[in-house]
Amino acid sequence: MTPTDLNFLRKMIQDKSGIVLGDDKLYLFESRLTPVCQRQGLNDLGQLVQRLREKANSPLHAEVVESMTTNETFWFRDGAPFDALKEKVLPFLAGANQSTRKLAIWCAASSTGQEPYTIAMIIRDHFPQLASWQLQFLATDLSPRVIAKARAGRYTQAEVDRGLAPDLLKRHFSQVASGEWQVNENLRKMWEFRELNLLESWFNLGTYDIVFIRNVLIYFNTEVKSQLLMRVGKVLAPHGFLYLGGAESPLNLDSQWVRVHFDRAGLYRKLRSDEAPPKDPKSGRWPAVTV
Ligand SMILES: C[S@@+](CC[C@H](N)C(=O)[O-])C[C@H]1O[C@@H](n2cnc3c(N)ncnc32)[C@H](O)[C@@H]1O
Repeated sequence: MTPTDLNFLRKMIQDKSGIVLGDDKLYLFESRLTPVCQRQGLNDLGQLVQRLREKANSPLHAEVVESMTTNETFWFRDGAPFDALKEKVLPFLAGANQSTRKLAIWCAASSTGQEPYTIAMIIRDHFPQLASWQLQFLATDLSPRVIAKARAGRYTQAEVDRGLAPDLLKRHFSQVASGEWQVNENLRKMWEFRELNLLESWFNLGTYDIVFIRNVLIYFNTEVKSQLLMRVGKVLAPHGFLYLGGAESPLNLDSQWVRVHFDRAGLYRKLRSDEAPPKDPKSGRWPAVTV
């Protein structure tokens, strides 16, 4: 592949997905796109680029972009976000939304489903009162492959071994003929899984009490991160919560957020119009509304 081909690929991937592939990530082109070439009967990456140049938009473009996504995820990832969910966020929302008995959660960039199903297990196990509420839970990702896997809710032994306690496996999963573990139907049907590229329109997405958008902003440049945080603010209810990944923060990107202190939960809420921004943006504050 020539330097011009490489730049073409980088630009195409960034334009379509926001994913920035710096010089330290060049090795990923070879390892992730060689299987694409094999599937397409192409000799090498040079031929792949040539095919991509023939049209602006094709299923091959989508396949290349999807191949360059990193789908790393596991159960109860980082611990603290889910402790905060169980101990603070859901008790707060169970009170705040008592009159409507509705709860809406969006898990953006949900990958293969471990994050949405972790949330579902917490709700089933610790918030029985929500069983009769109207739940609108949406999990989205750019990659059709991970969305299909999340929807099926089937995981190998190695996958369930990453962060899932044995009692939760026993309670919420069944072993299927292939030997894989499948999330029980009552949890699977709590979530709608849908393909959504965060860079594209969020028309008709709805309003959410909690948005999880964890471990995806790290792949984007500053401009895309700021825009996405601003757009998340628009789909988040006034008393809603935003979860970011451990290496992500809205600091210096979008000033509408205030950190909610809970260990290393990566939890934020919107600054109210009558509130001054905190002097120390790292200091955490809980919503003034208590229940
Ligand atoms: C590292 S995973 C994070 C999964 C999960 N949120 C977690 O924290 O464990 C990042 C996910 O972001 C998705 N992604 C990357 N760019 C995206 C975009 N533009 N729109 C939607 N999803 C995207 C990838 O397909 C991948 O599944």
